[in-house]
Amino acid sequence: MEPEKAYVYLHSALHPSLQSEMEEHFHTIHPKELDAYREKITALFVFVAPVVDAALIDSLPNLKVVGNCAVGYNHVHLEACKRRGIRVGYTPQVLNDATADMGWALLLATARRLVEGDHLSKHPATTKVGDVKWLGMEVSHMTLGIIGMGRIGIEVARRARGFEMEVLYHNRSRRSQDIEEAVQATYVESLANLLSRSDHVILVAPATPSTHHMIGKEQFTTMKKTATFINISRGSLVDQDALVEALKTRSIAAAGLDVTDPEPLPRDHALLQLTNVVLTPHTGSATLRTRQQMVRMTIGNILGALSGGDMINEVPL
Ligand code: GLV
Repeated sequence: MEPEKAYVYLHSALHPSLQSEMEEHFHTIHPKELDAYREKITALFVFVAPVVDAALIDSLPNLKVVGNCAVGYNHVHLEACKRRGIRVGYTPQVLNDATADMGWALLLATARRLVEGDHLSKHPATTKVGDVKWLGMEVSHMTLGIIGMGRIGIEVARRARGFEMEVLYHNRSRRSQDIEEAVQATYVESLANLLSRSDHVILVAPATPSTHHMIGKEQFTTMKKTATFINISRGSLVDQDALVEALKTRSIAAAGLDVTDPEPLPRDHALLQLTNVVLTPHTGSATLRTRQQMVRMTIGNILGALSGGDMINEVPL
């Protein structure tokens, strides 16, 4: 006899084709049904938002596992999970390529002023092309500074080889010689040194208490005035007021942000008014293939935890 399907609370919505994959394995409970099923729910599914806070966790008396369908888990209250012995799964690795691609999309868009160019091309008053004053920043053969050389940072570096760039990286600890050689990246122990030498800076470090606001006024001042700054990590790593100031005063040239703090930004936020910023709505892993792999890994994580066995990827609590 088929085992009874578990009840999974969908704290985040799913793409319709992935919703049906979930339903093959679980009874899925949507937010509007939550109150009727609190007792039955044994698993919770979430993307990078909304937050999974202690109040939500404590309102689900039989919760056994949080299936976090993301590599970052800063939005999950780990302490509250730990207190209750609730296991937490996450989805590293499968999103490395898509997220690194997004970093590159932002880098190229920002350096070459793609969005400004798009607006100009479509503007009804545009009558000619080839404005001699219209210049962007060179990418090929320039220096890329990567902050955070984890799985995604490595993929960002690998792509830089196609642009024949010099790649510098800063990380909590130096990576192995094998990795450095494979992606042709040079370790720079001092963040300030990396920032002062890089034409393009990309932030790929995880959100932890020690990375909170790691890029602020001092760091923007250290960057080249022609530098572009890309963030595909989390908004909390950046002092956003300092970023606004750096962009307004052109102490750096431009920024490309897939992440901000909060998300989305308030509609009157200064970053939304600036032309030297390209923003995307936290869509680093948002391709169907990658999301499919993330959801399948999350299903595996939930099934593993509910059966009392191994999860594919479990957050150590
Ligand atoms: C995306 O930001 C993720 O953490 O997966």
